[in-house]
Amino acid sequence: MSFSRRRFLLALSAAPALACRTSDSSAPPAAPTAREATQVLSALHTVDGAGVRLARALGQPALSSLDPFLLLDEIRSDRREDWEKGFPRHPHRGFETVTYMIEGAMEHQDSVGNHGRLVGGSAQWMTAGRGIIHSEMPRQDDGMLWGLQLWVNLPRRLKMTTPRYQDIAPSRIPEVSAGGARVRVVAGQIAGATGPVEGIVVAPTMLDVSLDGAKPFEHSLPVDHAAFAYVLSGTARIGPSARPVPAGAIAVLGPGERVVATADGGARLLLLAAAPIREPIARRGPFVMNTEEELDQAFDDFRSGRLVSGA
Ligand code: CO
Repeated sequence: MSFSRRRFLLALSAAPALACRTSDSSAPPAAPTAREATQVLSALHTVDGAGVRLARALGQPALSSLDPFLLLDEIRSDRREDWEKGFPRHPHRGFETVTYMIEGAMEHQDSVGNHGRLVGGSAQWMTAGRGIIHSEMPRQDDGMLWGLQLWVNLPRRLKMTTPRYQDIAPSRIPEVSAGGARVRVVAGQIAGATGPVEGIVVAPTMLDVSLDGAKPFEHSLPVDHAAFAYVLSGTARIGPSARPVPAGAIAVLGPGERVVATADGGARLLLLAAAPIREPIARRGPFVMNTEEELDQAFDDFRSGRLVSGA
């Protein structure tokens, strides 16, 4: 490159920057960038378990996963036939299942001797690790059953870890005001409150956010975390362009430092964020591993009774 051409290019690139710098040397630092809703999708109606009707927001063909999140299902019905068959005995290996109940009651039982009742407002974070066999059955005769199940991946080094349960009663989940919202803090931190879920490798944020509609809700999330919102009721407007996300839809949140949301007439959403794992995912039925061979091993172990015993 000749000297004159180089000087010409330098002058071109330098001029606007200099102009900016000299125009206002006392300008405040740039505001943190807000995450845009880059993809908005309706949950897909499907049937799982022994015949439970549910809506699948994450884990559907158009959005199979959002590393480290693998699945998000919502059950919401006051018709007994939609949920009465429940989720009888089934295994898991290689990831974590999270249940968040809004209304109704479920009973869970597992191969490690845990037994409990999940009522409205409670949460359960189960690290399946090397293997667990459990059942999750509705325990009510009628009325609304409304709950969510989230699957969160484990990195290779923890896929065969010892199974662990965190059963969280409704009273242990702090509820705080944050901007224009009431927030139940299941995991992560906001407005001086810390959620009760602890020791999870992907450092999750899980917030149940009720927007009152008047003031915006804003929350900072680690920039390297994957994040999404799932709208439970009303229509939320998410991101700097206030993209409308109706109830029953999931919004993938793009890069940025914070989440902003408003709602015209009030809305409720779940906000999830966590560190991506960035490993190959091999997934079949109730098992999520890194390779097909490990999946074959999981099925072999389940058939031969070694999934749980570890023998
Ligand atoms: Co399960």
